[in-house]
Amino acid sequence: MKPRRVCAVSFSPTGKSEELARLLSAELAAFTGAAQSFFSLNLPRERAGVLRFARDDLVVAVSPVYAGRLPNKLAPDFARVLRGDGTPVLAVCAFGNRSPGDALREWLLLLEAGGFVPLGAMAAACRHAFTDDVGRGRPDAQDRAELLAFARAAAAKLGAPELFPLAYDRETPLAPYYTPLRADGLPAKFLKAKPVCLENCTRCGVCADVCPMGSVDRDTLETPGVCIKCQACVRACPEGARVLTDADFLSHAAMLREHFTARAANTVLL
Ligand SMILES: Cc1cc2nc3c(=O)[nH]c(=O)nc-3n(C[C@H](O)[C@H](O)[C@H](O)COP(=O)(O)O)c2cc1C
Ligand code: SF4
Ligand code: SF4
Repeated sequence: MKPRRVCAVSFSPTGKSEELARLLSAELAAFTGAAQSFFSLNLPRERAGVLRFARDDLVVAVSPVYAGRLPNKLAPDFARVLRGDGTPVLAVCAFGNRSPGDALREWLLLLEAGGFVPLGAMAAACRHAFTDDVGRGRPDAQDRAELLAFARAAAAKLGAPELFPLAYDRETPLAPYYTPLRADGLPAKFLKAKPVCLENCTRCGVCADVCPMGSVDRDTLETPGVCIKCQACVRACPEGARVLTDADFLSHAAMLREHFTARAANTVLL
């Protein structure tokens, strides 16, 4: 089957999931000769409707790993928005060099339930949203070579007379969410923490514009809504004026720097 379109779909508060989606989509388009389309799930308005994909589309769907699973506040939106019709999909997770946990299986199950047929799946190590020191520089040249080889191997399956869904463990219940730890090894409790604006804030409003939860008030720049600690606002602030100062959050980032700088392997399922 020659796909009509290669569709890159990502939720990507700090850009790595989108980077993976674009890299894979470009390779798949070159390999199949199909045109590319891009879909973002970042903002509430981008998740308001339904995205329907046809049998002759080829979708690359990329989500970050949060606490060893799909982002828990977003997974219901992903399940509602993404609709396939026997549509082939590459299921990809971006994880921050600690562990992909069980997110890839959760992503595969969610996409299959939405009418997609997985050809392959990959958990790709990336820079951690919480600190550049963890997964620094990833995806790097070695990762890109692995990602492109994965894209080609998955796309080659489209040449078969019939699409066979990927074989993976559909039976074992999903692992529980990871409990983040502080530097002293105790649980880090930062569920309620929210970023604040420092004195050098120019009130430009970028942090409000990029928040995937629509939680930042455009006028007060306070965060009355739910904060998922995605770091979109922190990384998008042009002044470096948006920060999370919560002690447990900072201690968790220190713990990650202490224990998770060694190069984590990517996982590929084909
Ligand atoms: C709230 C939160 C939880 C995270 N949990 C994990 C995790 O369990 N394992 C891991 O390796 N990386 C974890 N990360 C890092 C992200 O998976 C990684 O930074 C990913 O590249 C983010 O995707 P994005 O750049 O598209 O936003 C977490 C990041 C955030 C913001
Ligand atoms: S993005 Fe930064 S400078 Fe702009 S309003 Fe937000 S905190 Fe202030
Ligand atoms: S306020 Fe929280 S949820 Fe919104 S962009 Fe910032 S870190 Fe993400």
